Amino acid sequence: MAIMRNSDIAISIKNLSKFYGSFQALKDISFDVERGSFFGFLGPNGAGKTTTINVLTGLSNYSSGSVDVFGFGVTSEYQKTRPLIGLCAQEFNFDPFLSLEQMLVYQAGYFGISEPQAKRRANELLDRFQLSEKKSVKYRALSGGMKKRLLLCRALIHDPEILILDEPTAGCDLELRFLIWDYLAELNKEGKTIFLTTHYMEEAEKLCKTIGIIHNGEIVQIGEKEKVMKEKTLQDVFLELTNYREKIC
Ligand SMILES: Nc1ncnc2c1ncn2[C@@H]1O[C@H](COP(=O)(O)OP(=O)(O)O)[C@@H](O)[C@H]1O
Ligand SMILES: [Mg+2]
Repeated sequence: MAIMRNSDIAISIKNLSKFYGSFQALKDISFDVERGSFFGFLGPNGAGKTTTINVLTGLSNYSSGSVDVFGFGVTSEYQKTRPLIGLCAQEFNFDPFLSLEQMLVYQAGYFGISEPQAKRRANELLDRFQLSEKKSVKYRALSGGMKKRLLLCRALIHDPEILILDEPTAGCDLELRFLIWDYLAELNKEGKTIFLTTHYMEEAEKLCKTIGIIHNGEIVQIGEKEKVMKEKTLQDVFLELTNYREKIC
């Protein structure tokens, strides 16, 4: 079980800036995500969503500001923050030589989970995501939808407090999208804090409690979904905000 500081704030980002060379991908962004929240991080391609996730998960460094997970700094106390997060990355990045079960047990090893415990957990997850039948095959033998579900199993193998999803339904057909939405709603109900990035407005409208909109590396709006949307669809809010910003910048 990962150690947690007694904090109701799962993620706290303060004045975060990130440069790739001379290009500034994140411009002094600040926001909090509460424990147990379903947070939607929205923005068009290139807005800075994956960069923010990479900073949160330690895959990328940052130029200035502070980023805390349950009160621990993601760089200064990374050994405490990493077990608290499960990442469902944008791309498939599986080891082609391992079976599904081996892959999950291997991943659990990074978090010090013993093999018998990891096997038990792997099988529970494979069962939950309807992949049990495939546990001995290699990931190449899975359909696209099965691979997406395997990403979720892997992100959950160490029972993290926060699940971070980088465009989990990009390229999925409607049926699979609905299935993933159901899983995510269920996980949130069980108490997981969910940080979901998406450019599907409908997805955020349906699932999220709180919404942050990022555009060109800046947070353009953040708050409770109903407040952000008022009487418009999220699509309209987003277009309005980005048009307004482009006019004044
Ligand atoms: N490794 C990198 N080197 C240089 N520029 C990058 C790198 N990764 C992302 N960027 C740039 O940073 C911006 C934000 O990218 P990203 O965070 O991937 O956006 P999003 O996930 O919202 O689509 C984009 O302009 C992108 O081209
Ligand atoms: Mg991205």
